[in-house]
Amino acid sequence: MDLQSEGRSGVAESWTVGRGVQVTVRRTRPHDGGALRALVDGLSRESRYFRFLTGGRVVDEIVQRLAAPGPGGVALVVEAPDEEGVSAIVASAEYVVSGQVGEFAVVVADGWQGRGLGRRLIARLCELARAAGLRGLRGDVLSENRRMLAILRGFGFASRRNPEDSYLHEVTLALGQPAPSTQRLPAGWFSTR
Ligand SMILES: CC(C)(COP(=O)(O)OP(=O)(O)OC[C@H]1O[C@@H](n2cnc3c(N)ncnc32)[C@H](O)[C@@H]1OP(=O)(O)O)[C@@H](O)C(=O)NCCC(=O)NCCS
Repeated sequence: MDLQSEGRSGVAESWTVGRGVQVTVRRTRPHDGGALRALVDGLSRESRYFRFLTGGRVVDEIVQRLAAPGPGGVALVVEAPDEEGVSAIVASAEYVVSGQVGEFAVVVADGWQGRGLGRRLIARLCELARAAGLRGLRGDVLSENRRMLAILRGFGFASRRNPEDSYLHEVTLALGQPAPSTQRLPAGWFSTR
């Protein structure tokens, strides 16, 4: 059974990253709050700012939402052993459902960035959202977050500067097509959610 078919049973999948390091990806569980708090508090200021739009402390309510994405939502975490061999959450990815669209975000612990976790988590979110019948995924990415914008472009997301906030880019991906499309969604697509 994989993440696609597990429902909320909590079954995990093993991924190999880098040079043979095994990590576990699974849906969140109710007791993940503490480990997610540790992930968030351990982020560099830049990573925290890119993900949560603050370089300061992220409030509990937002951390709790990483584990509980609400009805129809999906929250995934990646677990890996730390230097002492104790399991820690090293990445978090989720979407919450608004209408027929998933609002997504991803964060990878600084020490684990650049090893493919972000890309694989985004791919999983796309698969799960597509399988759930959602019409699309959308997100807000800081305009200076060139890496995330480049990754998303590779997945076929369209991006445009948010007309109401020039610090943000709105990224959108229409689901349901066999292959990712680089086409911009039609005007008003999201307003029909
Ligand atoms: C953006 C983020 C999720 C990407 O996850 P990641 O695991 O680091 O990304 P991947 O390892 O899958 O790499 C994706 C690409 O970024 C590139 N990359 C990785 N680290 C990089 C670095 N330090 N500088 C520049 N490019 C980098 C990789 O080379 C890769 O590109 P390639 O496959 O063409 O070589 C992660 O860096 C992160 O959590 N950043 C802080 C929070 C954030 O920006 N979240 C997104 C807000 S929605």
